[in-house]
Amino acid sequence: MKTLAILGGPPQRDVKVSPWPKWPVWDHNEERALIETLNSGVWSYNGPKETEFDRMFAEFTGVKYAISAANGTVTLQMSLEACGIGIGDEVILPGLTWQATAATILDVNAIPVFVDVCEDTWCIDPAEIEKAITPRTKAIIPVHLYGSFCDMDEIMRIAGKHNLFVIEDCAHKHGGEWNGKKAGSIGDIGSFSFQLSKHLTAGEGGAVTSNNFELAEKLDALRNCGRRPVAMDSSVDKGAGQYADQGNFIQSGNFRITEFQAAILIEGLKRMPEQNRVRDENGIYLNSLISIIPGIRAMRRDKRETKEAYFNFAFRYNKSEFKGLPVDKFRAALTAEIGIEAAPSYIPLNKCSLYVPHTKPTRYKLTDDYWRSIDPQRFTLPVCDRIYFEESVCIHHKILMGSKADMELIAEAIRKIYDNAESIC
Ligand SMILES: Cc1ncc(COP(=O)(O)O)c(C=O)c1O
Repeated sequence: MKTLAILGGPPQRDVKVSPWPKWPVWDHNEERALIETLNSGVWSYNGPKETEFDRMFAEFTGVKYAISAANGTVTLQMSLEACGIGIGDEVILPGLTWQATAATILDVNAIPVFVDVCEDTWCIDPAEIEKAITPRTKAIIPVHLYGSFCDMDEIMRIAGKHNLFVIEDCAHKHGGEWNGKKAGSIGDIGSFSFQLSKHLTAGEGGAVTSNNFELAEKLDALRNCGRRPVAMDSSVDKGAGQYADQGNFIQSGNFRITEFQAAILIEGLKRMPEQNRVRDENGIYLNSLISIIPGIRAMRRDKRETKEAYFNFAFRYNKSEFKGLPVDKFRAALTAEIGIEAAPSYIPLNKCSLYVPHTKPTRYKLTDDYWRSIDPQRFTLPVCDRIYFEESVCIHHKILMGSKADMELIAEAIRKIYDNAESIC
């Protein structure tokens, strides 16, 4: 028997001696771009870096329009508003996602309707979507969670049948492909986050993507105090940022990105395809190593997922193969072995302390009916619960930027816990 690191034994990896690859990644290119922006004096408002990034991101995503914004929360809100979603409309989303996906639905006075997820991808279950549709349903927000892709064929079929908007929450999926089409190019709108943990980042930031001119025009106005973008037309991508001076087109606020963020994103986007390739190759290898350990299951990768984009590396744990060791103890033991946090998934939104609409009656108590309809407790999400409380293990995507030997080390750490589980049960 070996002594587990959590009990004081030597860890599989001593990160003081061999740290994991760093995140975020930057070099002299970011430094040069930031200094250039500083010296230009153009620090915001449709500057050359923003225009260039939007052009690059549209091309990368394979859409006509990409519009960057302050973060991936406001991009969801803008998307809902562009689709005309508001008072009393129902929006279907998975119960397992970051709170922003639901909070923005509240912020347009619509009703978040949580449905359960598929146990092997942790993405929204299309069969549950169908059951949740009512005459008030206006949109679906599929979230491509961690390394998985939602079944976009089924979701688009359901949306087409019921005439619903599809807003892809791609906060975890920059560059992922479904049947050769990039995340964010399949639904009506794609919403991206460039927050620090994401695999394309400027610290904060976001973008929306679309092929639909009317939606793109509204999205551009919504991020910019409601101004109608005059340079945008239906045949070209976003223009040079000239605006009509005849007043506002639609009520909105300032959700703009800065030139500093755009400068960093341009450099990051040049690197990301190769980083995604390395993460995908390592992810495939690591999955092959861990899935032969009893009690560990890799996330299901659909054959239609032609390119993977990992935001974190996730897998499923079954304690009965680990002598009954609870998942939180397994995660703590793994964290001690590899020197990087093994975390649970997002907490289901009917139990999330950061998703508590009833703490804000002054904003959300529009009517008694509405107040009841936004109570997260009215939803039951058994698969989400099982994932969060019993099965999920998620590790930062920077581990996938390492070598083959690094992947072997992670698998060996899991095997070590398997072999010595009774010592911490
Ligand atoms: C699935 C999902 N949607 C939306 C967001 C919101 O993005 P941001 O943090 O940029 O506001 C996040 C951020 O973590 C997310 O994970």
